[in-house]
Amino acid sequence: MVTQALYCLLQYILLFCTLFAKAGDVDLLISFKNSLPYPNILSDWNRTNAMCEFHGITCKSGHVSSLTIRGLPLRADFMNSVSAYILPLPNLETLTLHSTNLTGSISGPVNCTVRLKELDISGNNIEGSVSSAASLADSCPFLQSLNLSDNSIGNAFDSFSPILRHLKMLDLSYNNITTNKDPEWLFSKVGLLKYLDLSNNNIQGTIPQIVNCTSLQHLDQSNNQLIGTVSSDIKTCTRLVTLSLSNNNFFGEIPILALLAMPRLEHLDLAFNNFNGSLPKSFSKLTSLEVLDLSANKISGQIPHSLCTDGVSSLKLLYLQLQDNFLTGHIPISLSNCTNLVSLDLSFNLFFGSIPDSLGALSNLQYLIMWQNNLNGEIPGKLSSLRSLRNLNLEYNNLTGTIPDGLVNCTSLNWISLGSNQLTGSIPIWISQLENLVVLILGNNSFTGLIPAELGNCKGLVYLELSSNQLNGSIPSALAKQSGKIVVDLLVDGWPVVILGDSYNPQCHKLTIRLSL
Ligand SMILES: *[C@@H]1O[C@H](CO)[C@@H](O)[C@H](O)[C@H]1NC(C)=O
Ligand SMILES: *[C@@H]1O[C@H](CO)[C@@H](O)[C@H](O)[C@H]1NC(C)=O
Ligand SMILES: *[C@@H]1O[C@H](CO)[C@@H](O)[C@H](O)[C@H]1NC(C)=O
Ligand SMILES: *[C@@H]1O[C@H](CO)[C@@H](O)[C@H](O)[C@H]1NC(C)=O
Ligand SMILES: *[C@@H]1O[C@H](CO)[C@@H](O)[C@H](O)[C@H]1NC(C)=O
Ligand SMILES: *[C@@H]1O[C@H](CO)[C@@H](O)[C@H](O)[C@H]1NC(C)=O
Ligand SMILES: *[C@@H]1O[C@H](CO)[C@@H](O)[C@H](O)[C@H]1NC(C)=O
Ligand SMILES: *[C@@H]1O[C@H](CO)[C@@H](O)[C@H](O)[C@H]1NC(C)=O
Ligand SMILES: *[C@@H]1O[C@H](CO)[C@@H](O)[C@H](O)[C@H]1NC(C)=O
Ligand SMILES: *[C@@H]1O[C@H](CO)[C@@H](O)[C@H](O)[C@H]1NC(C)=O
Ligand SMILES: *[C@@H]1O[C@H](CO)[C@@H](O)[C@H](O)[C@H]1NC(C)=O
Ligand SMILES: *[C@@H]1O[C@H](CO)[C@@H](O)[C@H](O)[C@H]1NC(C)=O
Repeated sequence: MVTQALYCLLQYILLFCTLFAKAGDVDLLISFKNSLPYPNILSDWNRTNAMCEFHGITCKSGHVSSLTIRGLPLRADFMNSVSAYILPLPNLETLTLHSTNLTGSISGPVNCTVRLKELDISGNNIEGSVSSAASLADSCPFLQSLNLSDNSIGNAFDSFSPILRHLKMLDLSYNNITTNKDPEWLFSKVGLLKYLDLSNNNIQGTIPQIVNCTSLQHLDQSNNQLIGTVSSDIKTCTRLVTLSLSNNNFFGEIPILALLAMPRLEHLDLAFNNFNGSLPKSFSKLTSLEVLDLSANKISGQIPHSLCTDGVSSLKLLYLQLQDNFLTGHIPISLSNCTNLVSLDLSFNLFFGSIPDSLGALSNLQYLIMWQNNLNGEIPGKLSSLRSLRNLNLEYNNLTGTIPDGLVNCTSLNWISLGSNQLTGSIPIWISQLENLVVLILGNNSFTGLIPAELGNCKGLVYLELSSNQLNGSIPSALAKQSGKIVVDLLVDGWPVVILGDSYNPQCHKLTIRLSL
């Protein structure tokens, strides 16, 4: 009897608690809605509907566990609305209010509950300092991920002293951080942070010393105005997997000693800086490296023969981007040891000599880009083994001979640029068999013979450039068969342009032909 009464009482308390909790959640949501300048934007957030069915709400056991709204102009004030009514939801685990026109500033600690793990308020107009953002993170005791990308953080510096106990991911990209005082402060606190994105701000000055960088795996400081040499600043970041410093004003030699202390490095992007000196031989020791982008710097000297293997360790490089530097010498035969390469870009350098046959062994290669060098000799027939090749660009070199027939087997080709060389022979008819071809540039060479009518077959071709050759005959009428209409009255860059319109056959793209006959 007593037991039963106790049991009933217990049931009653449980029921009461559940009801109370549910009411608490819905009250907070309705209060949030009513705090908006135009509450009706959340039209289905009303007490006649089940709370767990409200737009953006996900529940677990009847409690709000997640709120996700994207692209709806709520125009809520962060502190007065979000912090006041959403963050206190006792079971909230993830909150995403992306591109919802949130305003106001983060001014330090908030009333966060213990379950919140992910907070994404990217794409808004939130103001505040880096330290107030960190302070917000610290007041949510289990917050792991804070995304403030694309806001207006950084106009002020506050002297909160949060310690970033739990945060693992902090995205502050696309904000308005201008001095390196904020990042300097942050770098003294990185704690357990694994992922830090400060890209696309306006940070000036040198990279601040990262005091204890042992946890950091992903560091992006690209697209800022950082200056100076890099090496002692990052050498404690021994667990980095991704390092992007592109689009700054760094100078000096590639910080190879600091990089060699990062055995897990997979992605290194130093493009668009002023790094000079030569390409270090010991890159071959970074055995996890998949992306090496050093483009648009002032790197000189030759590509080391041992770049991808020194006989002991090897790189599994996928992307090698060395364009727009002062590299010279022959293209090493041993580049064939970079067996996983998907993209090789050596354009805008000073390479001379011939293109090695051995590149035909790079069976995963999709992009072979070597325009604007001093390469001579013939296009190697062995390139026909590159069955994945999509883009072959050898423009502005001094290549001779004919287009190798074997390329007919590179059926993925969608872009062929061989213009401004000294190529001879006829334009191969088999080019029309390349089902995926979109752009064909053969101008400013010494091709002879007729323009193959087959090029007019209805495929994906939209740009055909044949000007300045020794072609004879007329524009084959078959080239126009996809439209039956040729317009030859446009000039682009001083060249006559023939447009075969697509008005009669919606399956065909517009074909633009540049010719000067
Ligand atoms: C509640 O939302 C429903 C639509 O989900 C709407 O039909 C109803 O009129 C709303 N009730 C109130 C009181 O706003
Ligand atoms: C919301 O923000 C976007 C981007 O900042 C802006 O284009 C849009 O006009 C804003 N909408 C409202 C209703 O404020
Ligand atoms: C946090 O909650 C307490 C007690 O409910 C309240 O006094 C305080 O103003 C709240 N702080 C913020 C920043 O919302
Ligand atoms: C942060 O949000 C932006 C915009 O939604 C997104 O592009 C970015 O990937 C997010 N960052 C992380 C680390 O997930
Ligand atoms: C960025 O910050 C500067 C001052 O540091 C300020 O003058 C400017 O208005 C801010 N820009 C935006 C878009 O918030
Ligand atoms: C660096 O940070 C890690 C993780 O937070 C910690 O375990 C380690 O003791 C710190 N090292 C130093 C020298 O402070
Ligand atoms: C690299 O640039 C620095 C200054 O930016 C200069 O002192 C040094 O001589 C340059 N080194 C080479 C190899 O050009
Ligand atoms: C690298 O490639 C060259 C030429 O393809 C080859 O002769 C050499 O044995 C390779 N080196 C190693 C260490 O595999
Ligand atoms: C191009 O090659 C031809 C023949 O091999 C040679 O006579 C000429 O000097 C070369 N031109 C340049 C600019 O290297
Ligand atoms: C294209 O590949 C096929 C099959 O591998 C081969 O028989 C043929 O000779 C190749 N064509 C050319 C022109 O190399
Ligand atoms: C034609 O090619 C030559 C040699 O490659 C080059 O010097 C010249 O600038 C090119 N002309 C045009 C108009 O591109
Ligand atoms: C076109 O040129 C080729 C050699 O390049 C020549 O055999 C042929 O007679 C020429 N045809 C015409 C119509 O001029």
